[in-house]
Amino acid sequence: MKVLSVFGTRPEAIKMCPLVLSLERTRGIRSEVCLTGQHRELLHSVTELFGVRADYDLSLMRPDQSLSDIFCAVLSGVGEVLARSVPDLVLVHGDTSTSCAAALAAFYRHIPVGHVEAGLRSHDRYSPFPEEMNRRLTGVLASYHFAPTADSKANLLAEGITQNVFVTGNTVIDALSATVRPDHVFSCDALRSGELFSHRCVLLTAHRRENIPYALAAVCRAVRRLTETFGDIRVICPLHPNPAVRRVVLPLLRDCPGVILTEPLDMPDMHNLMARCTLVLTDSGGLQEEAPALGVPVLVLRSETERPEGLRAGCVRLAGTEEEGIFRSASLLLSNETERLRMARAVSPYGDGHASERIVRAILHSFPSAEAAS
Ligand code: UD1
Ligand code: UDP
Repeated sequence: MKVLSVFGTRPEAIKMCPLVLSLERTRGIRSEVCLTGQHRELLHSVTELFGVRADYDLSLMRPDQSLSDIFCAVLSGVGEVLARSVPDLVLVHGDTSTSCAAALAAFYRHIPVGHVEAGLRSHDRYSPFPEEMNRRLTGVLASYHFAPTADSKANLLAEGITQNVFVTGNTVIDALSATVRPDHVFSCDALRSGELFSHRCVLLTAHRRENIPYALAAVCRAVRRLTETFGDIRVICPLHPNPAVRRVVLPLLRDCPGVILTEPLDMPDMHNLMARCTLVLTDSGGLQEEAPALGVPVLVLRSETERPEGLRAGCVRLAGTEEEGIFRSASLLLSNETERLRMARAVSPYGDGHASERIVRAILHSFPSAEAAS
């Protein structure tokens, strides 16, 4: 049986590489990888770290690309790869343009699709935009659904997707177990200074399209006030390469003494920094899953989340997108250690680090000829 995994952005790579490595180890499965290159620098650094080699690399990224440009390029590029590779199953991940367009390309060729990280829903079609629609469409196109949690399975069932739904945990936790080390040596110069970790470190990441520019500017103003109020914190902000993000953040935070702006961190630096932080402020999906597993509280810079498990468990709170709300939520955790520890000690709901193995088992179970050969 041939399985073609298609991915193209940083978070997809971080969450798909552990699965690709599991597929490669499985007798009865021939694993191939197609990188769309929706991202460039962010993507290749991850595949190199995992030692995942691409059989096909479409290198599609363009600066300031529009949603329709990237979707069309993935649809036609992956279509050509499918004609050459002819897999029995295509795996896509999550909610990006790559996932949705690759799933459609596979559907056009009558090739079944397995959707990893299936069933997340914010129930607001414009937030996150366009990801909520991408994942709903991908769910309709897919034949196999690997839901990370019982909540995500319930979302699929409510939409009438009842066949071949497997609860597996999130593969991002599999990735974490390989990276976090007490003796990690940071490759980013700004993180190597021993003096940095004598401060309380706060990690900030933000890149969501629907937050640019207004909500992102509000986040930056709140962060500036936090550094003025709490002299002992350092806010580390690895900047997403999207020029639209930098146009907002740089003028507001470049000259702020308590803020350290960096280029995107490589994955081991990111995970090890997170593990050493007091607090994470983010609009990222992946960080909402990783930080709880590392015992670090998360304030989500959005008004809703498709990851309600973290809210319920108590490790994540919504801080919204207004300056005052973000400032107050973060101030509470920075001034009240009991409150912060309550969040830090909540149990992470995203799995045990064996999601990839469960997905491989579900694939084998669904394709008996491969199971017989394994
Ligand atoms: C995409 C995903 C989003 C995911 C995010 C992870 C969609 C619709 N959105 O958003 O779900 O959370 O990736 O980061 O698929 N760029 C570079 N180098 C890179 C990557 C990006 O220069 O390695 C710049 C380019 O100018 C590019 C822009 O960032 O045009 C935006 O990239 P794009 O993939 O279109 O959107 P993201 O906002 O990254
Ligand atoms: N990440 C990273 N370096 C960075 C920022 C993020 O390695 O500078 C990792 C992070 O640990 C997580 C993933 O990238 O695994 C999240 O990606 P992003 O926030 O871009 O996308 P999202 O998860 O929101 O789709």
